[in-house]
Amino acid sequence: MQPKFFITTAIPYTNGEPHIGHLLEFIQADVIARHQRLAGKEVFFLTGTDEHGIKIEETAKSRGKSAKEFVDEISGLFRRSAEALNVSFDFFIRTTDKEKHWPNVAKIWRAIKDSDDIYKGHYSGKYCVGCEKYLVESDLENGLCPIHKTEPIAIDEDNYFFKLAKYQNELKQLIETDELKVVPEFRKAEVLSFIDSGLQDVSFSRPKEKLSWGIPVPDDDTQVIYVWADALTNYLSGVEYASAGGKFQRFWPPDLQIVGKDIWKFHALIWPAMLLSAHLPLPKALMIHGFLTVAGEKISKSLGNGISPQAIMQKFGVGSDAVRYFFLREINPFEDGDYSDEKFVARYNGDLANGIGNLSARVLKLGNLYGKELKLKENDFSEKIETAWQEYEKLMAEYKFNEVLALINGLVSEGDSYVNEHKPWTLLKELTTDNSQPTTEAGEQFKKTLSSLVLLLGNLAWMLSPFMPQASENILIILGIAGKSSVRNAENPELVEGWIGRKIRFSEYPSLFPRI
Ligand code: ME8
Ligand code: MG
Repeated sequence: MQPKFFITTAIPYTNGEPHIGHLLEFIQADVIARHQRLAGKEVFFLTGTDEHGIKIEETAKSRGKSAKEFVDEISGLFRRSAEALNVSFDFFIRTTDKEKHWPNVAKIWRAIKDSDDIYKGHYSGKYCVGCEKYLVESDLENGLCPIHKTEPIAIDEDNYFFKLAKYQNELKQLIETDELKVVPEFRKAEVLSFIDSGLQDVSFSRPKEKLSWGIPVPDDDTQVIYVWADALTNYLSGVEYASAGGKFQRFWPPDLQIVGKDIWKFHALIWPAMLLSAHLPLPKALMIHGFLTVAGEKISKSLGNGISPQAIMQKFGVGSDAVRYFFLREINPFEDGDYSDEKFVARYNGDLANGIGNLSARVLKLGNLYGKELKLKENDFSEKIETAWQEYEKLMAEYKFNEVLALINGLVSEGDSYVNEHKPWTLLKELTTDNSQPTTEAGEQFKKTLSSLVLLLGNLAWMLSPFMPQASENILIILGIAGKSSVRNAENPELVEGWIGRKIRFSEYPSLFPRI
């Protein structure tokens, strides 16, 4: 049977308009999803929006809208931003969906309760509305939430608790042995040392009189489920856990979950503990990315310094590929990275317009000069391409997207140097234009040079496909070989050999990345 791959992103809060910080994560997940599809997996790529909690209830009120009206609007914006960036998600879950999400939350709550892991208690302490998180003194900086720079509210109330502490040793062992693989390594170390400092049980509900915008606790409608217990369950809702049907059987558990560095405690501790308690298999891997900043500040809905991806595209008149490229090339996926218009333009002009865009144009020009169908020959790039693919797959498996793109850019430069060295246009002058089978040495040399460039460009298109799907397709159009059968995938794995003898007829195409 075809192997499966289930990948998820965090589901953003709908308390404000989407910004490029959220989209960074969507794009990273999309690269992996597309790469896995090409590798022949049946991929299920889940994303969505997190729509309950005080933060959302309060923001809706401040904007003079009902909570429902507000989340419908913002959730739509998230969905459209993802689509605008060509993010190929298979399902978009909304936590206000009473049919597709709520029954799953009720089911896992009952399963956890059946394991005797939920008990009634009393919580007295601090709570950050921005994080929707209970904070202890050591979390605070000068009395403020370090992320939102706001004073946490005081909470003193009866509610239900989840026995997180009970799972301390089991979690430690699962993470230490990579049964739940935490990437990168330095985050794994951080998670383990946090576990060693001791886990405490967590409040898992709030009185309905204080917060009504949420999912009721099963069999106690005076309490509403803690927004994180609700939101984490989206990963189960996406594959229809409540009905335990074919989708659940096929795809559970996730092969990879991607989240930002501010929410790893929920995903590396509370979430796997919930699954252990409910006797469900754990996700295989958790990738934790850094923050995107603007002028050094974290972009956030609460701080109001967001930039939308559509705004960048409009401002510079570029397509989604250019924005995807910037985030994937400029930002180390595990560290923080900064956006600025200057950096964007420098990357775009330097790497895209002068890089792959220019190389494609040069090859097309040579193809047009030749003007005939080209039967690809043995050529000069075969070995380099084979080696590059090995490196490519290795870096992809480590999610080092920025390094993959650096590798690709290196090949683009080699292509340029190759053209400059071989000066194919001078060879062409020696050819007679009406001779379709040139036999002169120059003719043969020209065909070899052009064949080499075609092989290089075609393989570059394949390599770029998960990153810049549009540009990849457009390069294959230039080479006259666009279409499904021309894509490198599990059924069509040939890197070099399959190209020899292939016939290429170049086709006109506008500049891929006109200079800004
Ligand atoms: O945390 N740079 O929602 P959220 C990079 N609803 N990533 C960023 C970012 C930035 N500037 N700002 C946010 C939540 N993110 C919860 C998730 S999952 C069951 C519930 C990332 O809207 C953030 O790290 O605050 C998280 O992974 C995602 O966007 C949603 O953030
Ligand atoms: Mg946040």
